[in-house]
Amino acid sequence: MRLQVFLVLLAATCAAGTPAKSREKRNKLLLVSFDGFRWDYDQDVDTPHLDQMALDGVKAKYITPPMLTMTAPSHFTTITGRWVEDHEVVHNLMFNTTTNLKVPYKQTLSRSEWWDNGILPLWITAQDQGLKTASFFFPGGAATYRGQKVNRVRLEEAGHPDANYTEWCQNIDTVMSWFSEEDFDLVTLYYGEPDNVGHAKGPETEDRKNIIQQIDRTIGYLRGAIKRHNLDDSLDVVITSDHGMTTVKKRPLVDEIILNKYLNLFELVSFEILDYGGFGVLTPRPGKEQEVFDALSNAPNLTVYKKHEIPESFHLGRSERLPPIVVVADLGFNLNSRFVVYINKGDHGFHNGEMDMKTIFRAFGPSFKKNFVSEPFDSIHIYPLLCKLLRIEPAPHNGSLEVTEAMLWSGGESQGARFSVVLLLPLLLSTAL
Ligand SMILES: *[C@@H]1O[C@H](CO)[C@@H](O)[C@H](O)[C@H]1NC(C)=O
Ligand SMILES: *[C@@H]1O[C@H](CO)[C@@H](O)[C@H](O)[C@H]1NC(C)=O
Ligand SMILES: *[C@@H]1O[C@H](CO)[C@@H](O)[C@H](O)[C@H]1NC(C)=O
Ligand SMILES: *[C@@H]1O[C@H](CO)[C@@H](O)[C@H](O)[C@H]1NC(C)=O
Ligand SMILES: [Zn+2]
Repeated sequence: MRLQVFLVLLAATCAAGTPAKSREKRNKLLLVSFDGFRWDYDQDVDTPHLDQMALDGVKAKYITPPMLTMTAPSHFTTITGRWVEDHEVVHNLMFNTTTNLKVPYKQTLSRSEWWDNGILPLWITAQDQGLKTASFFFPGGAATYRGQKVNRVRLEEAGHPDANYTEWCQNIDTVMSWFSEEDFDLVTLYYGEPDNVGHAKGPETEDRKNIIQQIDRTIGYLRGAIKRHNLDDSLDVVITSDHGMTTVKKRPLVDEIILNKYLNLFELVSFEILDYGGFGVLTPRPGKEQEVFDALSNAPNLTVYKKHEIPESFHLGRSERLPPIVVVADLGFNLNSRFVVYINKGDHGFHNGEMDMKTIFRAFGPSFKKNFVSEPFDSIHIYPLLCKLLRIEPAPHNGSLEVTEAMLWSGGESQGARFSVVLLLPLLLSTAL
């Protein structure tokens, strides 16, 4: 009888003690992105580390990137919690429809005028609240926002090899030392694979399976590094990606789309981004908008939109930057302008409702439940989760914490309960004997 009272008291103490402690303590946060990691890439390859990580943490069945399913726009939605029409990073390429300027992706990474449109990314919001943050190759991390830079930035330069495993591990060591020796609170770490392999070789190839195994080894290395740096109890890790990948349809299987067959691009259009996968934009010459729209409406294997008639669910229509005509090819078709010069075997940029465009979400660490499978959700909801993990006040955003909250030990309460069960069970058993 007395023992039972003691046990109840002990349980109450544990349950009460844990949440109080976790309220005070801010965990560190590592956000990792592996570009172009389709949601099902680990299902036809042996991935022991990814499998173990799912047991030790959270795995979403898949997540849906925003329209459009492209690196810079999607990453910027993840790090801001805003739709593309609001953050205005509407393409991987910085462009100007008046001057016809098009800046290659890697150079766009350091052009603040492309990224800084009044929406503050997580790094800056966290820094404003006293946290220390860093970006290692992460899209948007090298820009200056309202005059403010991310505390520490590594910028991936053009021509940088993307698949060097030795360097991948070195980058993890570097990031871990930022956490353990320099007390950074948030680091975002970006890898350019498996996107490159997906484009160059196609998603249904041995090369893609090999790069997924390399990523799996990297996850194993990451988990070892967390242990070595004694960060197991203080570091939360979220691993995600920006979009999926699909096999590009080519002759003789299909007739490739050549837009100039349907409209005279030179006569009717003053600016275009085509030959860049499944998503294209066009600025018609003055007075030619309807003609361009009608011509493209007759082209097969694509859908054409006037910007102001874009479905609201795309969250693109309010963008000022987006040109007046937007073209989305059917899954697997490339939007060629005049000739087929396009060599990719895999691509993205297609409708985010297509399963091939869906991507991954994984997480583990002291804040996350174990062996928890989440239903699919939109990547826009990652942002409020990251803010909750860092215990900061989010900037205005379009996500919802309710979508992801169940992944977390709710306010420390269930963690308390778990501790009491762990403590109580052996005691109960020993009294029974
Ligand atoms: C495009 O370039 C023109 C000419 O330099 C400039 O006036 C305009 O502001 C630029 N547009 C955008 C959206 O940056
Ligand atoms: C891979 O990275 C390591 C470490 O940075 C470097 O020494 C090596 O030269 C790189 N290998 C290639 C093929 O770039
Ligand atoms: C592409 O369009 C052509 C012409 O309308 C049609 O016959 C064909 O089925 C389409 N291909 C696919 C894969 O949808
Ligand atoms: C997204 O959030 C912003 C800021 O709260 C708001 O102004 C905007 O209307 C929201 N967009 C949608 C589609 O709800
Ligand atoms: Zn890509």
